[in-house]
Amino acid sequence: MVRHTPPMGWNSWNTFAENVNEKVVRESAEAMVQSGLYEAGYEYVVIDDCWSEKVRGKDGKLREDKRKFPSGMKELCDYVHGLGLKIGIYSCAGPLTCAGYPGSFDHEFVDAKSFADWGFDFLKYDYCYKPASVQGKFLYRRMGTALASCGRDILFSACSWGADETHTWIDGTGAHMWRSTGDIWDNYASIRDIIKLQYKILPYGGVGCFNDMDMLVTGMRGKGHVGIGGCTYEEYKLHMSVWAILASPLMIGCDIRSLNDETRELLTNRGMLSINQDARGCRAYIANEEEVRMSDVSPVFVRSLEGGDIAVCFTNLGDTDARGVLQAAQMGLSYGCGKKLCFCDVWSGEQIAMTNECLCLDMPPHTARLFRVKLK
Ligand code: GLA
Repeated sequence: MVRHTPPMGWNSWNTFAENVNEKVVRESAEAMVQSGLYEAGYEYVVIDDCWSEKVRGKDGKLREDKRKFPSGMKELCDYVHGLGLKIGIYSCAGPLTCAGYPGSFDHEFVDAKSFADWGFDFLKYDYCYKPASVQGKFLYRRMGTALASCGRDILFSACSWGADETHTWIDGTGAHMWRSTGDIWDNYASIRDIIKLQYKILPYGGVGCFNDMDMLVTGMRGKGHVGIGGCTYEEYKLHMSVWAILASPLMIGCDIRSLNDETRELLTNRGMLSINQDARGCRAYIANEEEVRMSDVSPVFVRSLEGGDIAVCFTNLGDTDARGVLQAAQMGLSYGCGKKLCFCDVWSGEQIAMTNECLCLDMPPHTARLFRVKLK
């Protein structure tokens, strides 16, 4: 399987953690279809940690916890497929998962076969309890090999949190996406810190193996397992804008059974999604890199899109008002070239023309503006 665009879906962890169960998964899958998320492009329903029994069966295989998943995984997969969706499961490269359930270390092939037999389409693969004796890249390579020979197309989602310079080796392991940071929390500081960790790794990721900046907290509003603090509407908009321009997978973490209109719009805005899912698959650069390196100025991200358009995202990650500045030269316009750039704000629809040498925007704290830009 080759992934040409960042995977999109929902994952149980951010809201439910160890309380994940069959009811939640079925209802979330139904909600994904009914709420319009599926139509917008969200397709994977992923069961994270805490789904299995604490010990393997006598045959060495993982078993679902029947108190949480009474119908069993095969029937659940069939149900989710029947809705037109895909379904994912979770394991770990160490002998235990992060929450202390059995991991796949030295059981990679038998586990990949179980996941395939049940009907899973996606595996999130964590990094807790990694044995010191084996390098991470070989552990991910093992599971990549096991998945490649399990008889089913399974998207391989690596989750080694950027540890051990993940970006330098993950693409060779068979992974389709890879976590570049530690866990997200539903508060602004967590979003800001994850964005700041991206500056040095922008050239990595993209088509085939996407840089996963972690699951979305949009719409959590301080509820659920990682709901510590909550964010404002503008902070969630900044979160979506940056995840979109940096082509991160979009895995929703809020409870989609009770989406309000504001959250639905943040998750399904067409202009934002068309940038995230752009077919050209280019990586972004930081236009004002010098300033970002020298002082605490916030980045302006730029990315080429299919058909010649350009995505631009102004940010103000700081706690005070700031002025975002983008020079025409940073967008490829030479003095007197006779061209102009037209900026369309994907959230508000506002059109701004850049005819002079630069575009300056007054940016309140904790905000972003995401534009699709056309050359005229
Ligand atoms: C790690 C991962 C999280 C989640 C938990 C489950 O912390 O980074 O995304 O999967 O494990 O225990």
